[in-house]
Amino acid sequence: MSRSVARRVLPWPLEINSDRLLRRIRELGLIGRNSATGGITRTGFSATDREGRDYLINEARVAGLVSRVDAAGNILIGMADGQGQRPTLVMGSHIDTVVNGGRLDGAYGVLAALEVLQVCAESDFHGSCELMAVAFANEEGALFPQPFFGSMVVSGRLADLPAEPQDHHGHSLREPLKQVGGDLATLDGAVWPAGSVAAYLELHIEQGPVLEHGGHQIGVVDAITGRCILTVEIHGTAAHAGTTPMDARHDAVTAACRVVLAVESLSRDRQVCRVSTVGRIDVHPNSPNTIAGVVRLTADLRDTDSKRLSEAETAIRDTMASLAEQTGTEITVVSRVRSAPVSTSAELRTSIRQSAAELGFDHITLPSGAGHDAQMVAGVAPIAMIFVPSRAGVSHCPEEETDADHLMAGAQVLLRTAIHIAELHETR
Ligand code: GLV
Ligand code: MN
Ligand code: MN
Repeated sequence: MSRSVARRVLPWPLEINSDRLLRRIRELGLIGRNSATGGITRTGFSATDREGRDYLINEARVAGLVSRVDAAGNILIGMADGQGQRPTLVMGSHIDTVVNGGRLDGAYGVLAALEVLQVCAESDFHGSCELMAVAFANEEGALFPQPFFGSMVVSGRLADLPAEPQDHHGHSLREPLKQVGGDLATLDGAVWPAGSVAAYLELHIEQGPVLEHGGHQIGVVDAITGRCILTVEIHGTAAHAGTTPMDARHDAVTAACRVVLAVESLSRDRQVCRVSTVGRIDVHPNSPNTIAGVVRLTADLRDTDSKRLSEAETAIRDTMASLAEQTGTEITVVSRVRSAPVSTSAELRTSIRQSAAELGFDHITLPSGAGHDAQMVAGVAPIAMIFVPSRAGVSHCPEEETDADHLMAGAQVLLRTAIHIAELHETR
């Protein structure tokens, strides 16, 4: 992106329509909402996810934009007069959620990208890039445990996906994917051709406390954490809870308790990696008067250093082998997902900082402890991320919130950065 001769004066002031963006955030936030907890459950490829997808596609249609769904179930939104011949500047995130999550994680970035497209379409702005908004399918992997599904497909990581993805209950993805307009048999058709994407920008809530504590409006992400998700299966022996003597048991639940503590200890005490979490446990048969025969759980390990991440995986495998011996159970460890830590593009970071400064927003540079679709897209295009503060630093829970002023600031920075990139790209 050279900064040589600007072809024309930037069409300022282009403004985000705050009422429209806030309305959409409110409306999408009602889909999948549990009125008792206030949490949102729109797990990827579930019925509520489909409702959210329909909402987005309809809003794009009413805005005069054009949507299509690719084979991976990603929703791609473009300008009605887009030719598909110029390099594309893609903006977006995901609209699926964790179980009982918040309304902003992912949805904010998608709706802000839609807003940027609509503002540009209404102002007849055309740089040398096609502008595109994307809602990647199944970023969270809460129901089908293949997080980043859509962004892995567009970035060509098909070999890293199971041939027949299944949900936690063993149901195939084939039919749910078909229901949203995708097709497992033709995923390769959804891969973004090399060089077709000029840049990918993802606007997201920080999901942590740094921006709020420092009183900053905008975060410019320099690196995204790497992550390794393991499925640990503990096989004991199911037996009667009243008749089996204590010294004759192979209890999968008590072994699982030791596994959970070992996963925590990996980062808390041994400091092999930055954080480690067991977030899901399935007990079989899960009956009060039966000693559990099988426990299946997930271990989520994260670090911004690939070497430390692979050391953590090795350490967990070793610990599991000795726990199996100590508890008289069989423990298997399967690696589900590995996402390498990635750096964002220095040029795009500069562009975001410039936009934030022009708009008078205070900004800092920080790493992301959460995973994002951007880190998959980094394999095929330059990426950047813009963060806004999360109230109390919390996310993946109903209390997730960001002040309206901060939501607007982030969207304005996204709009301005998009136009800078489109203009600068033109002068290459
Ligand atoms: C994505 O939501 C993550 O778990 O980091
Ligand atoms: Mn999330
Ligand atoms: Mn997210």
